[in-house]
Amino acid sequence: MAATGKCSKVRPRFEMLKSMSIQNSIDVSNNQMIQEACQRLVLSDQQLRRIMQSMEKSMEQGLATSTKKVAVKMLPTYVDSVPNGTESGDFLALDLGGTNFRVLHIKLQGKETKMTGKIFRVPESIMRGTGEALFDHIAGCMAKFMGENDLKDAQKLPLGFTFSFPCEQEGLTKGKLVTWTKGFKASGVEGVDVVTLLHEACHRRKDIDIDVVALLNDTVGTLMACAFQENSCQIGVIVGTGTNACYMERLDRIPKLAGYVDEHGVTPEEMIINTEWGAFGDDGALDFLRTEWDEVVDRESINPGQHLYEKMISGMYMGECARVVLEDLAKQGLLFGGNSDAISVPHCFPTKFVSEIDSDLLEDDDRTFQKTYQILEDIGVEMITANDCANVAYVCSLISTRAAHLTAAGIAMLLNRMNKKHVTVGVDGSVYRFHPTYPTLLDAKIGELIVGDIEYKLMLSEDGSGRGAALVAAVATRLKEEKLAASLSSSSSNQ
Ligand code: GLC
Repeated sequence: MAATGKCSKVRPRFEMLKSMSIQNSIDVSNNQMIQEACQRLVLSDQQLRRIMQSMEKSMEQGLATSTKKVAVKMLPTYVDSVPNGTESGDFLALDLGGTNFRVLHIKLQGKETKMTGKIFRVPESIMRGTGEALFDHIAGCMAKFMGENDLKDAQKLPLGFTFSFPCEQEGLTKGKLVTWTKGFKASGVEGVDVVTLLHEACHRRKDIDIDVVALLNDTVGTLMACAFQENSCQIGVIVGTGTNACYMERLDRIPKLAGYVDEHGVTPEEMIINTEWGAFGDDGALDFLRTEWDEVVDRESINPGQHLYEKMISGMYMGECARVVLEDLAKQGLLFGGNSDAISVPHCFPTKFVSEIDSDLLEDDDRTFQKTYQILEDIGVEMITANDCANVAYVCSLISTRAAHLTAAGIAMLLNRMNKKHVTVGVDGSVYRFHPTYPTLLDAKIGELIVGDIEYKLMLSEDGSGRGAALVAAVATRLKEEKLAASLSSSSSNQ
């Protein structure tokens, strides 16, 4: 488990590259032109503070109203308690949020978790086909898993459904998809309750039935999985295919939930809010720093104009953004001898290349840019010079540093807003896990952007989407039982 502390100083990698370029006598004029062309990718603290301010404003708009018009939706999750460590039992979890779908059988025993599960691919034809076909696929995978694991009786187990898309929830077990994100486009799902769609798909098959006790976002699972270890965890963040955050908000700061009481007539003090911060900027709030490269990435995506903050940060877009910059530089004659053919192929430069190339920069003295060279050769770039490799690495490091700093602005804003003495931030997602310096860059910048004497800690979440789903299901089951017991004892003492 990687827990990072507050604010460690890191030297921005582009500065290291600058000095390296002198050491390696890289063609300075080319380099300077590239540096100038890329200046817009470097965000100052002043710009980051402006983002924080306008993001908080967007969030307040989202907390005030449920209208479709606000950019940052701030969706109530109906999760108002974190695990207390006593949760136990057997659960099923479903996890849909990217190109894979998982079915899990989870046993919670004290602090231990035993999990068995299976990963199924969600083919692009299913992601973009009909909703019915998508949910039939999900039900089919569940039936297969249950059959293979002798879990015929498991269909009676409480099930947590991690559905990592924006859902307007009406309670813990009901949520209408607001809009697809991350390349999904299955028809007939937007505006519909996804738990109902799952039940209908099970009924169509007839061989399985399920007891969904919780529908949750992956950020909520992440928060819950970390809170199970450290009960100071109050923020959950994902930086993977998409990016998003949830946090514990006071009910008196959620005007759109005014008068809310739960099914037992109680108004909780706090509730986890799924911010859906990926859509920050969809109302123009990020226009002051979006580049023409960001516009190209957005224009060519499946959902233009939507999730603009996410498109500057997450794994689905980071590589493409770097590619678009490199294509432009090549077309300007600043890279690859002016030959842009290979780098012009959309999506030929996935985010894992950014991670691999950035790790070339971690070599101390004699940077050989071996991986960078190999990647460029593999995608078919001809005539690669040492300068090209250094400049490509420079661009990649700017893109990933910008992503880390934009995320840091979001997290620091939440920490400042919550203004609690000590907060653990649970984080998960492929970018956070696999990019060599992203966690350090993120941590350092949060430290610079928070105010007062707030202390925070970033904590890598252990499988929030699976374990977290079981925990939400467990908390829901425990609270139900506790409340039932309390109402039984008060009715018997009244007799
Ligand atoms: C996208 C989804 C959001 C999810 C995030 C991370 O932004 O809209 O619900 O949490 O990706 O998976």
